[in-house]
Amino acid sequence: MAAGRALAALLAMLLAASAQLIPREASFTISLHKADNTTVTIKLGLQSNCRIRMKYIMSELKIKPGDNVTFDFTCGTPEKYFITEIQKNIDCVSGPCPFGDVHLYPPGLPRLNSTYIWDVKASTKAGLELKFSTSWLRQIEPGETCPDAVSYNINSSIDNATVNIGTFCRNGSVSRIKLLGGVVLSLHLPWHLPLTTSGFNIASRASIKRLCIIESILKRESSITLMSPNYPLGFPEDELMTWQFVIPPNLRASVFFHNYSLSNCERKEERVEYYIPGSPSNPEVFKLSDSQPANIAGTFNMSLQGCDQDAQNPGILRLLFQVVVQHPQVDENVTHLVDLSKEKNMTVTIHVEGWPNRTPLMSEPICLICKDPRTCDRALTLTSGAVYRISFLCKDLSQLRITAEKGIGCMDIRWCQKKIYSLSVPKAITRLPIRLHKFNWKLLATDMINVEITSPSLKLQQHVPEQRCNTSYSYSIVSATPETELNVGVFCPGGSIEKIQMRNNITISLKTFGKGFINESIPQDLKMSFVPHIKDECIFTVSPNPKAKVYLQTPNSPYGLPPYVSISWFITVPGKQTARLKFSKDRMGIACETGRAFVNIKEETPGAEEIVRREDELLPQPRNMLHSFWVNVSNCRPVDKEQLTLQFWVTLADKQLDLGIILAVVAGAGVLTVIGLTVCCVKKKKKKTQNPMVGVYNDNVNTQMPGRKGSFRKGRQNNESHVYAVIDDAVVYGHLLKESNGSVSPEVDVYRPFDGPIGSMPPSPPPFSFRKDIKRSSNPQEEPLPLMDIDQDNYTFAHQKSGQSEDNGDANKKDKRDPSVPLLENKERDGLVE
Ligand SMILES: *[C@@H]1O[C@H](CO)[C@@H](O)[C@H](O)[C@H]1NC(C)=O
Ligand SMILES: *[C@@H]1O[C@H](CO)[C@@H](O)[C@H](O)[C@H]1NC(C)=O
Ligand SMILES: *[C@@H]1O[C@H](CO)[C@@H](O)[C@H](O)[C@H]1NC(C)=O
Ligand SMILES: *[C@@H]1O[C@H](CO)[C@@H](O)[C@H](O)[C@H]1NC(C)=O
Ligand SMILES: *[C@@H]1O[C@H](CO)[C@@H](O)[C@H](O)[C@H]1NC(C)=O
Ligand SMILES: *[C@@H]1O[C@H](CO)[C@@H](O)[C@H](O)[C@H]1NC(C)=O
Ligand SMILES: *[C@@H]1O[C@H](CO)[C@@H](O)[C@H](O)[C@H]1NC(C)=O
Ligand SMILES: *[C@@H]1O[C@H](CO)[C@@H](O)[C@H](O)[C@H]1NC(C)=O
Ligand SMILES: *[C@@H]1O[C@H](CO)[C@@H](O)[C@H](O)[C@H]1NC(C)=O
Ligand SMILES: *[C@@H]1O[C@H](CO)[C@@H](O)[C@H](O)[C@H]1NC(C)=O
Ligand SMILES: *[C@@H]1O[C@H](CO)[C@@H](O)[C@H](O)[C@H]1NC(C)=O
Ligand SMILES: *[C@@H]1O[C@H](CO)[C@@H](O)[C@H](O)[C@H]1NC(C)=O
Repeated sequence: MAAGRALAALLAMLLAASAQLIPREASFTISLHKADNTTVTIKLGLQSNCRIRMKYIMSELKIKPGDNVTFDFTCGTPEKYFITEIQKNIDCVSGPCPFGDVHLYPPGLPRLNSTYIWDVKASTKAGLELKFSTSWLRQIEPGETCPDAVSYNINSSIDNATVNIGTFCRNGSVSRIKLLGGVVLSLHLPWHLPLTTSGFNIASRASIKRLCIIESILKRESSITLMSPNYPLGFPEDELMTWQFVIPPNLRASVFFHNYSLSNCERKEERVEYYIPGSPSNPEVFKLSDSQPANIAGTFNMSLQGCDQDAQNPGILRLLFQVVVQHPQVDENVTHLVDLSKEKNMTVTIHVEGWPNRTPLMSEPICLICKDPRTCDRALTLTSGAVYRISFLCKDLSQLRITAEKGIGCMDIRWCQKKIYSLSVPKAITRLPIRLHKFNWKLLATDMINVEITSPSLKLQQHVPEQRCNTSYSYSIVSATPETELNVGVFCPGGSIEKIQMRNNITISLKTFGKGFINESIPQDLKMSFVPHIKDECIFTVSPNPKAKVYLQTPNSPYGLPPYVSISWFITVPGKQTARLKFSKDRMGIACETGRAFVNIKEETPGAEEIVRREDELLPQPRNMLHSFWVNVSNCRPVDKEQLTLQFWVTLADKQLDLGIILAVVAGAGVLTVIGLTVCCVKKKKKKTQNPMVGVYNDNVNTQMPGRKGSFRKGRQNNESHVYAVIDDAVVYGHLLKESNGSVSPEVDVYRPFDGPIGSMPPSPPPFSFRKDIKRSSNPQEEPLPLMDIDQDNYTFAHQKSGQSEDNGDANKKDKRDPSVPLLENKERDGLVE
């Protein structure tokens, strides 16, 4: 003992010596009355050499009831290191309860971060009420801190169980908390805030028969966020608690549950119950998953009821919610009739702009959409087949948007072929005073059924940089298979495109710009029908207005046409007029890695010449077309990073004015260096002379590239399959390639592009017009890999041709493969190549 003291004294001397440079601070005298039942502990909150100096030097000082001590610190800034804990036990069970204002006792404490703890023991037969002074409190989530570092933490303690009622900052709307039995309340004060009062008083109240009642007073437009006790942990089993909201009768309150989870109930159901003034059915009972009541006039209360939980797997009942108080909206009693009873397969969502990606700040005035006067939310989805009466609780309806979607499906052409569907926004939607953001038509069909859209009275304009859409709405069209997506383009009314035929599943999105579309008088005229299979990815039928310049562009700009995709335009030229066609660039601007890319132009008249250009050739010069004509663009797989984008324009003029016509062609956008192009040309030409190949039209299952291993399989039904393969352009187009002007008759023995009924078929089938991407990156020049993909569904050829396979049996027989033999070898090779 003596040795210990000596050691302590030595240590104290050493410490004092180490602190000798620090000026000695004023000393503190704390005197605690026995009856106050208060204990003060001053201790190190952070490691430091600074010490408390009394008779001895120490790092912690505990002052008990009845003590009278004087001390100082060995350093000048003890607030940096020391904290104070002041604990007062109040026993309301065995003695009279000291009700009234709660003081910060004792006086004269050093200014340190302090935590005052009031531990009140009370009988569960009576209620205790904590009443906060006028700045009131605001509940914060666990982990959140208060801006002024002043916080209250309130625990309820019944018997030995502690329930954390919550942590609160000053400056909120929680005015009173009533509890049953004991309470442990702590007040944390930072050293720099000279607070003189605790900010609350304690009173005794009649038993509340529940865990607690939290009262909030919301005097003006505001919002409050509250949490269930113990949040985010579980609300006690089978407990009941109530929140009371005192709201002036001229304001409206709406409740939103932002975060909740349910426990596993064995008996009873977890629920919330509302007492709403004027409601004929109090209490109104809701599930936590329900949309909670909105637009409540004046004061109301809400109770949370737990259940008997499954002992093995109790789960967690918790709730974080918000109450928003605002003035009644001018329009609150205006209901809008939305009649969707005659619509089919449609959903209409009315929502705040940016929903659901942007959650509005809690402080923003909210906009609510109501299904009935008290069922309101930030978003409301209506489905077809019903009539709705909706209203808006919103100061500014321009914050709201409508997003709608309609599905139209056709799985058997016999049921849909004759039908014409009108793709227009129903009046039920255009009549609402809400801006239409987007209306999507989802057109779903099987592989063999394609989609045709027409705009008979308005006709469509393609949105291109040279000719931008400036209408109040536009259509964005996307065609998709489960694997690929092709952005057909953006179109608006008032152009020259009469018809677009497309493959795959199509999504047409009407998007609006500005306020224009609110007016239901804006004309819409888009018709859709399902048509049998078409040969190209897209076919545009264009009938230009006289004198207007029509700009047209390949789909998927600026990312370029996908590999092997073929697109056609049919441009009608009235008898008395001529059309001038000009490409925007003089080259396609790509080099092919696999296959070849072509531009074919052909007038629709018997014996017309076909103009064919390959990717390594110059595009045709501006030219006059005397008859309606086809333009076809088909892509190869370009070398890395190169994209095929072609643009051209067409103008019409009277025939007699031929000389005055301005003809121009718009440019192809591609990325290719001159060197790359040259190299490619050299290689291709070389190969052309060495390895002549034959074009094949085939509607058998397997078509073979002469001299190349592998086979390909169709992605469609055998009997409907139209597989077409041109093996080497050098042979098919050989004679054409020698022509400098490219205007040669295309009559080559195997290759007969226009033998169908005139007008039904675009010009020359492109050599490689696959339906879907071929997943391959091999270079046919370097390595004669199989050209065809083995995956059954990976591609289909674009051309519909039949009855020609017999002519080229040679090519076919040479390497015919049993389609049932798995092409494992190829697959492995693919893997290696990629
Ligand atoms: C002081 O606290 C103790 C322990 O909680 C208690 O037994 C005693 O009654 C209290 N005294 C007063 C005056 O509250
Ligand atoms: C506490 O002690 C100081 C002297 O150390 C004395 O002056 C003071 O009166 C005492 N206070 C009480 C309440 O006993
Ligand atoms: C005192 O509280 C403040 C925050 O209010 C904190 O930054 C500081 O570290 C605390 N000091 C000690 C010694 O705990
Ligand atoms: C509370 O805990 C104490 C000891 O920790 C125990 O003696 C007492 O029985 C407990 N009370 C109840 C009601 O569980
Ligand atoms: C209380 O909060 C409001 C806004 O929430 C703020 O404007 C005001 O300054 C705060 N008052 C205090 C004393 O912190
Ligand atoms: C309240 O209870 C929680 C958890 O049981 C505990 O962390 C916290 O310190 C308690 N607060 C008071 C003031 O006792
Ligand atoms: C809901 O609570 C969980 C658990 O505390 C948390 O991870 C999640 O972020 C919360 N969500 C919201 C929207 O507050
Ligand atoms: C809730 O409000 C109703 C009606 O104002 C009232 O009768 C009831 O006592 C309240 N309940 C609580 C727990 O405050
Ligand atoms: C809406 O109707 C209710 C009941 O009919 C009425 O009390 C309220 O004043 C009306 N609100 C407005 C803004 O006219
Ligand atoms: C309704 O739409 C779905 C897809 O949204 C589609 O599969 C279905 O065929 C459509 N029904 C009708 C009758 O068009
Ligand atoms: C839209 O553009 C066309 C030409 O493309 C022009 O004639 C028309 O005036 C424009 N309309 C508006 C509203 O700008
Ligand atoms: C279109 O979508 C439907 C349903 O998702 C699917 O069954 C069908 O194969 C798709 N059609 C095409 C051509 O991808």
